[in-house]
Amino acid sequence: MKSKFNQIINRKNTNSAKWDRLSWAFGTENITPMSIADMDFKASGPILNAINSITRHGIFGYSYYPDTLKKAITQWFNKKHGVKLSEADMVFAPCVLASISFLLDIFTKPGDKVLIQTPVYPPFFNIVKENNRVLIENPLINRNGHYAMDFEDFSKKATGVKIFILCNPHNPVGRVWTKKELEQIGRICVKKRILIVSDDIHCDIIYKGSGYVPIAGIAESIAQNCVTLYSPNKTFGTAGLACACAVTKNEEIKKRFRAYIMAKKLESANRISTSAWEAGCNKSRDWHTQLIKHLENNMTYLESFIKDRLPLIKFVKPEGTFLAWLDCRQMNMTEKQLKDFFYKKAGAGLSPGSIFGVEGEGFMRMNIACPLTVLKKVLYSIERSFS
Ligand SMILES: Cc1ncc(COP(=O)(O)O)c(C=O)c1O
Repeated sequence: MKSKFNQIINRKNTNSAKWDRLSWAFGTENITPMSIADMDFKASGPILNAINSITRHGIFGYSYYPDTLKKAITQWFNKKHGVKLSEADMVFAPCVLASISFLLDIFTKPGDKVLIQTPVYPPFFNIVKENNRVLIENPLINRNGHYAMDFEDFSKKATGVKIFILCNPHNPVGRVWTKKELEQIGRICVKKRILIVSDDIHCDIIYKGSGYVPIAGIAESIAQNCVTLYSPNKTFGTAGLACACAVTKNEEIKKRFRAYIMAKKLESANRISTSAWEAGCNKSRDWHTQLIKHLENNMTYLESFIKDRLPLIKFVKPEGTFLAWLDCRQMNMTEKQLKDFFYKKAGAGLSPGSIFGVEGEGFMRMNIACPLTVLKKVLYSIERSFS
């Protein structure tokens, strides 16, 4: 029987941000989208059962975030990563990006500096600029496709910075930051009194050889200076259900974040999202293990295909995330030419690297959370487009 991750499921006409806006995103309908970071897989059986039982019941009244969800999340983190979260440290929020924007609102004022490490998830740029904060960029160092943090540059630019938005694992470069790296950056933030907002939404998509370390778990001083943001979106493929959780040991931060959620009247929960998250944590471990195997297999396939058949593209397998960061600089094309090549010639809907910052120019990001046959079809089409 075909693996559930290799079943091709038509996502068109489902209000899918990835599949239903092809002409808008790529200028053509004749394309396979591998852009927006959600997965083309059906959710786990237990998640579907949880949602089905709510719809069968048929009453969709007001709901709250149940303690059982907190418990399910702490158990998931403990079993999966050996990470001990405390239920008392959690505050739920509508989504990760909204939480970042709330934290900017609470802990900074217009004109304050917020630092990000580029290339990075595009909304990090917008969220700072749209809230009239000053964007400080600390580019990562690219050593033959393996990215590292530039601590010296970070320290130089850190003066006056109020918030550092960390991305762990990092979208788009796929680094799962090590304890040593996190400790070094965390210590600088403590010393310079910079609040760390750690976006750990990709923390459950980690491949062999790497392990997830939350920066807040490194030292009490760092934990007291940090808010970590979690979500089931990437872990269980529930991005459209929107739900997130902010975790912090700092009582004052927790109090102010909770008060903000109350003041904005966002304390009500979406029962479908919370039940799906709970069923994911409590009953979908096997599904998730198989998911990681599938993604790892796709990444390995991509790596050898590129090595053997696409000599002008360079690729270093990521340590985490289902996103592949392809270095296309040797194709010697402008951004427009690269887009024309991938979109019009190859029918491959990748995200252009420049949206992740200037360091991303000449790169393309490919979302490989799809059936292997889809990945193969796109890769052969890219290969043919070179000839
Ligand atoms: C690093 C990162 N943060 C946040 C998000 C979005 O999270 P949410 O939908 O909970 O706002 C994404 C989605 O791709 C992401 O990659």
